[in-house]
Amino acid sequence: MAKKLIDMINISKSYGDNLVLDELNLYIKENEFLTLLGPSGCGKTTLLRILGGFETANEGKIIFEGNDITNLAPNKRQLNTVFQKYALFSHMSIAENIAFGLKIKGKSKAYINDKIKYALKLVNLDGYENRTPDSLSGGQQQRIAIARAIVNEPKVLLLDEPLGALDLKLRQDMQYELIRLKNELGITFVYVTHDQEEALTMSDTIVVMNQGYIQQIGTPEDIYNEPENAFVADFIGDSNILPATMVEDKLVKILGVNFPCVDTGFGRNKPVDAVIRPEDIDLVKVDEGIMQGVVTHLIFKGVHYEMEVTANNYKWLVHSTDMFPVGTEVGIKVDPFDIQIMKKPESEDEEAVIVEE
Ligand SMILES: Nc1ncnc2c1ncn2[C@@H]1O[C@H](COP(=O)(O)OP(=O)(O)OP(=O)(O)O)[C@@H](O)[C@H]1O
Ligand SMILES: [Mg+2]
Repeated sequence: MAKKLIDMINISKSYGDNLVLDELNLYIKENEFLTLLGPSGCGKTTLLRILGGFETANEGKIIFEGNDITNLAPNKRQLNTVFQKYALFSHMSIAENIAFGLKIKGKSKAYINDKIKYALKLVNLDGYENRTPDSLSGGQQQRIAIARAIVNEPKVLLLDEPLGALDLKLRQDMQYELIRLKNELGITFVYVTHDQEEALTMSDTIVVMNQGYIQQIGTPEDIYNEPENAFVADFIGDSNILPATMVEDKLVKILGVNFPCVDTGFGRNKPVDAVIRPEDIDLVKVDEGIMQGVVTHLIFKGVHYEMEVTANNYKWLVHSTDMFPVGTEVGIKVDPFDIQIMKKPESEDEEAVIVEE
């Protein structure tokens, strides 16, 4: 397993009486693509700025390769940041923009020129040295901002929603380019986004945040398939999240009907949340289903049909390549493996971070 590079320990941050980060613990491994994912205002930028040294935490410390860097200035950290609102110097050429940090460090002209060429090649903009920022598209400007960070050879690149301003096609191209850069340069990436699809595509590790708390840390597969609570399940893709009762091991009562599942260890007759992905619901003949319902809404989504099936007073979201017209009576079946059981939050703190529908 890759070695631990950064350890953020018990980080808390308030602005006035607004507690933005609450005793947050997180470690980052060498050469990892780690993404901070969460809704607007949850504290992603604040955490990234604390890591970059642009903001001081009220409590906690940051260890970088065994050294305490909590109070180190940004330029003394082996990190480089591409900010949420990228800013190139408009009165300077592209070459001068990229050279900026290296000039401050007193590097030689030959070294700097080499680096500019190399960085422009990496971001697929060879030959753009003498252009000005305002003659470039948004995506090209963003790539220059990344090139400017890369020439400093940081161990870690901090990127705050670097693709937020780009349109979909360009975003996707840039996502591939960033993954390629990470693999080619062996840099550790800490990436901020509120776009769950982007996080699932790009990351080795996803940290799901809400209201200053970490909700779950895991691989994209972990987070998607095994969300630990209703917030994560709701935030990562569409889901049916239902209040349920764990009757006994491997049996859960959802909307008054017993469904076989595979989970154990929740106790008997305990309140839980059951999560079922829309693609995991099988629509079958009425008498073959565990529950019966009627199709109340239908949209064609290109790859699949999205249907709403009303059953036991709940509107189930169903994705299927089979089409059932509105009004069809159907049976609902779910493979036991596709039912994810989550414990109900116990403390008030935990309760506070669950988004109510
Ligand atoms: N300098 C500041 N002074 C006061 N409050 C701040 C300051 N910076 C951030 N905040 C508050 O801290 C909270 C977290 O902000 P932050 O910018 O970290 O969120 P974010 O997760 O990056 O959101 P977004 O996705 O919108 O960029 C917000 O409530 C914000 O208003
Ligand atoms: Mg932000």
